[in-house]
Amino acid sequence: MFDQKKIAVVGYGYWGAKHARVLSSLPGVALTVIDADETCLAEAEKQFPAARLVSRLDAALDDLDGVVVATPPGSHATLASQALAAGMHTLVEKPLTTSVADAESLIGIARENNALLMVGHTFEYNAAVRKLREIVRSGDLGRILYIHSSRLGLGRYQKDCDVVWDLAPHDISIISYLLDEMPTSVSAWADRNVGPRHADVAYVRLDFSEADTHAIVHVSWLDPCKVRRVTVVGDQKMAVYDDLSDNERIRVYDIGVDIALMDDYTSSPSMPVSYRTGDIVSPYLAFEEPLKVQDSHFLDCIRGVARPESPGERGLEVVRVLKAVDSAHSVTGRVSVASPLRLVPEQVAQ
Ligand SMILES: NC(=O)c1ccc[n+]([C@@H]2O[C@H](COP(=O)([O-])OP(=O)(O)OC[C@H]3O[C@@H](n4cnc5c(N)ncnc54)[C@H](O)[C@@H]3O)[C@@H](O)[C@H]2O)c1
Repeated sequence: MFDQKKIAVVGYGYWGAKHARVLSSLPGVALTVIDADETCLAEAEKQFPAARLVSRLDAALDDLDGVVVATPPGSHATLASQALAAGMHTLVEKPLTTSVADAESLIGIARENNALLMVGHTFEYNAAVRKLREIVRSGDLGRILYIHSSRLGLGRYQKDCDVVWDLAPHDISIISYLLDEMPTSVSAWADRNVGPRHADVAYVRLDFSEADTHAIVHVSWLDPCKVRRVTVVGDQKMAVYDDLSDNERIRVYDIGVDIALMDDYTSSPSMPVSYRTGDIVSPYLAFEEPLKVQDSHFLDCIRGVARPESPGERGLEVVRVLKAVDSAHSVTGRVSVASPLRLVPEQVAQ
């Protein structure tokens, strides 16, 4: 038997509704839904008639064991600090906060109040990402030459953050989890196409010094194709994780390019390379909804039988990278292309 835990989901929007569904399906959870918007609470009441409904977090804090913060990123710091200061174990959606100082402050408040702080890096609880990590760390792919990650589609334009803060926390969390290292430097290009404020497409480059490798992250709210793909290119094999694939979410390609051993390079008209092609293997993955794995883990942490695998410190690491990306794309590192030669009419005639 599970001892009952009273858990509140703050923010019953797109993602908070999924937390509410998952938490209410777990044994020993009494659900509270908190939302400032009456229509969201009415919707929650329809879906979860047994749930307690509250419009403000501070009105519920005296009767809870844990809080999940699933409101827009700009409100995470205020709500999470209220919860932690009241001694609540708190899971905060990604990104943990919108500033490094706020993330550091939450970690401090959690420690002072003996409360657990966990960040919702959902992909670190995804069976495919865990498998890919195992493959990368086994050395089967050889040395990792580079990683490419794409998270594209017609996205949900956010009011209080740009596409990098909305989507790239996933890629930064996945890639650093695969390599077991945080990037040491970043560069970025981001652009705003729709709406007055936030970039909706970006390319981010992450440099990893220990692994001596790089990753390119492409995120967009403005792309005709929905893509959720991570490609890991090793010098022995390559792997592709396609989160949208039904039954082959990971494929390992025994494929590569070698510098050919040639006696006389100068006699060859093309690059002296040879191509290796072999099997494509797709490992079996037992699927369990990652959000369910993450929220069950949060409950295990509250019950004292586990320690957070994605603690507040992990959220802080990702926020540090996001802040560096902000600085990187405000720097203009452009190089002008040399002006084309003007052809004089006589030259054209010839
Ligand atoms: N882990 C994932 O895969 C994943 C996926 C999507 C979104 N998210 C994250 O979930 C969070 C929520 O995103 P969303 O798309 O669901 O947002 P949303 O705008 O759909 O919903 C936010 C809800 O919070 C409520 N709210 C806002 N401020 C509040 C406050 N102070 N008190 C009570 N309620 C308040 C709003 O009324 C709204 O119902 C974001 O941090 C986002 O990055 C995570």
